[in-house]
Amino acid sequence: MNRIYFDNAATTSLDAAVLDSMMPYFTTHFGNPSSIYSYGRESRLAIENARKTVAKLLNAHPAEIFFTSGGTESSNTAITAAVRDLGCKHIITSAIEHHATLHTVEHLRHANEAALSYVKLLPDGHIDLEDLERLLAESKEKSLVTLMHANNEIGNILDIHAVGNTCKKFSAIFHSDTVQTVGHFPFDLRNTPVHFITGAGHKFHGPKGVGMLYVNENVKIKPFVHGGSQERNMRAGTENLYGIVGFAKALELATANYETESAYIKDLKLYMIEQLQKNIQQVAFNGDVLGNSLYTVLNVSFPKTEKSEMILFNLDINNICASGGSACTSGADTGSHVIRAVNNDPNQVAVRFSFSKYNTKAEIDTVVGKLKELI
Ligand SMILES: Cc1ncc(COP(=O)(O)O)c(C=O)c1O
Repeated sequence: MNRIYFDNAATTSLDAAVLDSMMPYFTTHFGNPSSIYSYGRESRLAIENARKTVAKLLNAHPAEIFFTSGGTESSNTAITAAVRDLGCKHIITSAIEHHATLHTVEHLRHANEAALSYVKLLPDGHIDLEDLERLLAESKEKSLVTLMHANNEIGNILDIHAVGNTCKKFSAIFHSDTVQTVGHFPFDLRNTPVHFITGAGHKFHGPKGVGMLYVNENVKIKPFVHGGSQERNMRAGTENLYGIVGFAKALELATANYETESAYIKDLKLYMIEQLQKNIQQVAFNGDVLGNSLYTVLNVSFPKTEKSEMILFNLDINNICASGGSACTSGADTGSHVIRAVNNDPNQVAVRFSFSKYNTKAEIDTVVGKLKELI
């Protein structure tokens, strides 16, 4: 079966070199990293080397990197710690965050642990930075600002430095969900005014179920899972040894090949825009598609018809993987909270196509040809 995979914002395939780096830890190097004999110490060394690699690539300190199970756990931890440990009693977020953020902040609001404000969005889906400044200026409580670096559905990229500097001005804590940008853009955390960022290995050809949380050395939070002394007493439980090794290897490869791979993928995105405009009438794009936007994500709106309403189903039948929203809602008919917030046009149907280095222009030609038939 010749499947075309255009859903790389949901997850990516594992790189062969990443698997190779992980294999010894599935087989011969199985010692528990907490064991004190040499077998354990070898595993511990692999984890600490992975931490050093990740820290170096992001220009952070190894002590600022915690390995977790992925983006969801990292965001839950950062947001909850900001409220419970750092005294933030007001959370400012946006309506287009991932559910890992939205459901966490709603939970804290329902539990009366923090007040919640949503910053306004501009017509192109970017955050209204003036409104953010107003919300911070009017806040009587210490605030947590949680805004994603890049939106997983429409691809818009936040000016993380501008937001960080605004937060600094009002002594607010700043968490950014960087799941779609870690492994896709260079980071320089020493020179980025942010307290928490997150990453998930499976978004950049690493393994699933492993991620990281960066906690700036100037903030002190309490342990987030209680038990043993793993992750320097912060997150108890035997480590995902092979996952952590794979996470670091995937980030290493992504960083080394960033220039060529990002240029290649951006070219694919531009080619698909051009082909869609040539071949499909009334096609439209959601988000700041040609502006400050992820090179991996293209969110397309088609006019709503009986046929186009079945588009995801029909693409699936034709072995084309794309998504109607974030991964957790893809295929479901619930619609996307992001599309509702940025383009609430009931006469349009939105589909997200997202690319990787393994996609080709020939695949785009096939998909556009199919879309022409299906719309
Ligand atoms: C922006 C964003 N944040 C968080 C997550 C959750 O990451 P994970 O599935 O690794 O927990 C995702 C994955 O869909 C995402 O795209």
